[in-house]
Amino acid sequence: MKKKKIVVLTGAGMSAESGISTFRDSNGLWEQFRVEDVASIEGYERNPKLVLQFYNDRRRQLLKTSPCEGHFLLAALEKDYEVVVVTQNVDNLHEKAGSTRVVHLHGELMKATSSLNPDSPECIVELPEGADIHWGDKAKDGSQLRPFIVWFGEPVPMIEQAIEEVRQADIFVVIGTSLNVYPAAGLLRYVPNGVPMFLIDPKVVSVVESARITFIQKGASEGMKELQKLIAAL
Ligand code: OAD
Repeated sequence: MKKKKIVVLTGAGMSAESGISTFRDSNGLWEQFRVEDVASIEGYERNPKLVLQFYNDRRRQLLKTSPCEGHFLLAALEKDYEVVVVTQNVDNLHEKAGSTRVVHLHGELMKATSSLNPDSPECIVELPEGADIHWGDKAKDGSQLRPFIVWFGEPVPMIEQAIEEVRQADIFVVIGTSLNVYPAAGLLRYVPNGVPMFLIDPKVVSVVESARITFIQKGASEGMKELQKLIAAL
């Protein structure tokens, strides 16, 4: 029998139990840094060295973390379901936990690219563990090497693939995102009618589609345990 397809949209809350700060919770990253300074294309053009340092620090922090139970439980669903993870996270914790199909909407911390052609596949390189990007490091096209991160003000090339995945979902799950950032938050609109939707978050997240969503008001790991039971009963 064909496996049911689960599409899961994840955000910073998915990695919170791994010790990575979220963005908009109290003490979140956007209380410590101005998003327009470190996560916008204008910020990079204004002060590239500051932005390189910000992502070098994020990458160093990532090396000290491991997937949480929630990441592992999500990866384990692949035994019984076809699972596609669409993540806003730039960490690699889904992959480390064993998820095999991960669409990164906002880029990947462990990759670098060209400042001139950031989406060009020939310019995207994997960074070795522990590597920083330095001012003066060059991409294949000779431009300054930059983090492979989608900044505010830039297109989100992976959104088309994400929309296609969501359109084919038999079950749709949201974990740990405030749904403040588009186009990612707009993916909920593409969930076909009648497809069960679940949302795991310890806080109340306001969503237009709330009437058709089953809310699991828990952290990612405890929430995943409840999700397992709920989807098994479908
Ligand atoms: P936010 O910081 O906006 O939201 C994090 C969500 O995780 C909130 O709803 C929290 O309640 C929830 N949360 C906190 N702890 C949790 C836990 N243990 N388990 C589950 N959920 C938990 O982060 P995102 O929605 O991911 O983009 O932010 C989206 C984008 O905004 C990011 O990808 C980043 C940021 O600016 C860029 O930098 C381009």
